[in-house]
Amino acid sequence: MSEPHLYPVPSEWAKRAYVDDTAYQERYAASMRDPEAFWGEEGKRIDWFTPYTRVKNTSFAPGAVSIKWFEDGVTNIAHNCIDRHLATRGDQVAIIWEGDDPSESRHITYRELHDEVCRFANVLRNRDVGKGDRVTIYMPMIPEAAFAMLACARLGAVHSVVFGGFSPDSLAGRIVDCGSKVVITCDEGLRGGRKVPLKANVDAAIVKAGEDKVDHVIVVRRTGGNVAMKPGRDVWYHQAAEMVTSECPAVAVGAEDPLFILYTSGSTGSPKGVLHTTGGYLVYASMTHHYVFDYHDGDIYWCTADIGWVTGHSYIVYGPLANGATTLMFEGVPNYPSNSRFWEVIDKHKVTIFYTAPTAIRALMQGGDAPVSKTSRASLRLLGSVGEPINPEAWEWYYRVVGENRCPIVDTWWQTETGGILITPLPGATALKPGSATRPFFGVRPEIVDAEGTVLEGACEGNLVIADSWPGQMRTVYGDHERFMQTYFATYPNKYFTGDGCRRDADGYYWITGRVDDVINVSGHRMGTAEVESALVAHPKVSEAAVVGYPHDIKGQGIYAYVTLMAGEVETEDLRKELIVWVRTEIGPIASPDLIQFAPGLPKTRSGKIMRRILRKIAEDEFGNLGDTSTLADPAVVDDLVSNRQNKK
Ligand code: WTA
Repeated sequence: MSEPHLYPVPSEWAKRAYVDDTAYQERYAASMRDPEAFWGEEGKRIDWFTPYTRVKNTSFAPGAVSIKWFEDGVTNIAHNCIDRHLATRGDQVAIIWEGDDPSESRHITYRELHDEVCRFANVLRNRDVGKGDRVTIYMPMIPEAAFAMLACARLGAVHSVVFGGFSPDSLAGRIVDCGSKVVITCDEGLRGGRKVPLKANVDAAIVKAGEDKVDHVIVVRRTGGNVAMKPGRDVWYHQAAEMVTSECPAVAVGAEDPLFILYTSGSTGSPKGVLHTTGGYLVYASMTHHYVFDYHDGDIYWCTADIGWVTGHSYIVYGPLANGATTLMFEGVPNYPSNSRFWEVIDKHKVTIFYTAPTAIRALMQGGDAPVSKTSRASLRLLGSVGEPINPEAWEWYYRVVGENRCPIVDTWWQTETGGILITPLPGATALKPGSATRPFFGVRPEIVDAEGTVLEGACEGNLVIADSWPGQMRTVYGDHERFMQTYFATYPNKYFTGDGCRRDADGYYWITGRVDDVINVSGHRMGTAEVESALVAHPKVSEAAVVGYPHDIKGQGIYAYVTLMAGEVETEDLRKELIVWVRTEIGPIASPDLIQFAPGLPKTRSGKIMRRILRKIAEDEFGNLGDTSTLADPAVVDDLVSNRQNKK
C-alpha cells in the first residue's frame, strides 16, 4: 500500500488552536502517566454542587467489571448545560434550529432554553416523573427533543431516545425493556417534505407493548396533522405547558446516577440498552467537544446527526451546551429541496464547524462539485467525520471541494458505548492522513491485539481494544450487567473490546478497518445481522436466513440476505419485495435488505453452524477466494449460491 498524502497542520491553526502538537504530546503523556491527577483536574470543567474527592475507581477484571468516575461528586447536567451560562450568556443563542423547509428556522437563547426546559420538566414532574424514572423520547429533529432530554436530566430522570425511523415493534421492545411509563413524541415528523407518523407509531407500539405499560404520552405539535388522542393517557404538550411555570429547580444528582439509556445493536440477541451516567459522561463530552472541534466563543457549530443516535446526544446536545456553544439542529435531509442544502444552511447561519457522516459525503459527491461550488462556505473553518471509516476518495473531495483546502478534517472514531470521541486528530496538533482517525485522545489507551489477545507492537493490524477506562465509558447494559461483561470484557480479559478491526502504521496512526463481529454499518447506522435474520425468519414463508454486509458505494455497507423458504413455497419477485417490506415493518427502514438471494441451502459445518465467512465472500464477489470449504456438511451448496448470486446495485 502506498503511503497516503500527508496534510500538515496549517500554521494559523497551530497558532490559534487550544493544543498544538507539542502540547498534545505532553498532555497525552501526562494522562497516561497519572490518570488520577489528569482527570482530577479535567473534572473541574463542569460545576459540581458537591465536589468529588475520589476521581477514578474502575476495574476491567473478569467477572467484576465496575466503572466509577468522580463517584462522590454531586451535580446536575441541565444546570451545567443551561443555568451556569445564564449570567454570562443569557442572550447568546444556544440552539439554532433549521427546519425541513428552508423558510423555517428558530433561534433559542440560553435564557429561552432555561424557560423551555423548566416548563418541560414541570410537565413531566406533574406526571410523576422523578429521579431514576425512565422516559422514552421518540421525536424528530425539533428543539423540543432537546428540551425533553434536558428536562429529564433536570429531574434526574433517565431518557431513552429512540430514533424516529424505528418501527412500532422496535419502539415497543425498547419501551418494555427499560420500563418507561412515559413516552414523549410529536404528531408527525417532517423530513425531505414527507411526513413521518410518529404519534400513530407510538399508538401501535403501546398496543404491542401492552396498554398497561405506558401511563402518559406527551405529544408535541409539529405539523398540526390529525392524530388520535387517547383521553387520560395522551396530552398535548402545548396545553400542558400552559399550566406550569418556567421555574424548576435542578435536582441534585450523583455522578454515577444514570443519565440515559441508548439502545444499540450487537452481534447477538436484541439491542442492548447502553447505560451512561452523569458526571464522567458530561466531563468527557464537554472536553472532547472543546478540543476536537477547537470550539471558541463565536463559533457556530453544526453536527448533522439525529438525536436518536449517540452522536446527537454527545455532540448536538450535551457537549456543546455544556461548553456554552451555539449548536445547530437540522430537521431535514441533505438532498432536500436540493443537493445544495447542507451548504446553503452553512451560508445562511454562518456555520464555522461542520460535522457529518461519510455516507452523506459520498452521496453528495455523486452529484458532482457544482451544487457545492455555487455556495460560498466562507464561514467554514473545520470539518468533521463520524460513523464509519471514510474512504480516502470521499475524504479528499470533502477536503478539496467542501473545505476548499483550508479546513482540517477531524475523522473521529468512537461508539455508542464510549460516550465520546476516543481516536481523532486535534486540528491544531495532528497532521492528517485521509482515511485515518489518527491518534488517541487524552486519557485513551488503545491497543491492537491478535486473535489470542497478544498485544501487538509498532506497525501492525488486529483487533482494537482499550486497556483502561475513560470517564465517558458506558457503565453497564441496562438491567443486565452480566451481558455487559460478556459482550465487552470476556473476549480479551482486562480490556474493553471494541468490536472493530484496526491497523496502526509506523507513525503510530490508527486506521479503523471496520467491524470484526456480526455487526454491519449501513449508512453509519449500526445493525446486528442477527436482528435482521430473526425478523426474516418471523415471516411464515421463511425457514432460515443468514445476513451479511457487502461493500456499497454510498452506504458503506449494504445488507445482503440469504433466505431459505419453507418447503413448498415458491421463490418469486413478489415474495422478495414482500420480505423487504416485512423487515421494514419489523425493525424500520434502516434495516431493509438491499439484496435478497433465495437459497435452497446455506453452507453449514457438520455441527450445523452457518459459515458466514463463505456467505460474506460470495456477497463481496470474491468467489475465487472462498477459503477452506472442506468442513462443510454439503459443499455443493456453495456452487448453487455462487451461481445465483444477486447483482449489486
Ligand atoms: C464505526 C457512532 C471508522 C465503528 C459514533 C464503530 C467508525 C461503530 C468511525 C460505532 C470512524 C464510528 N472511522 N469507523 N471515524 N466512527 N465508526 O455506536 O465500526 O453508532 O464501532 O457510534 O461505527 O457506531 P455507533
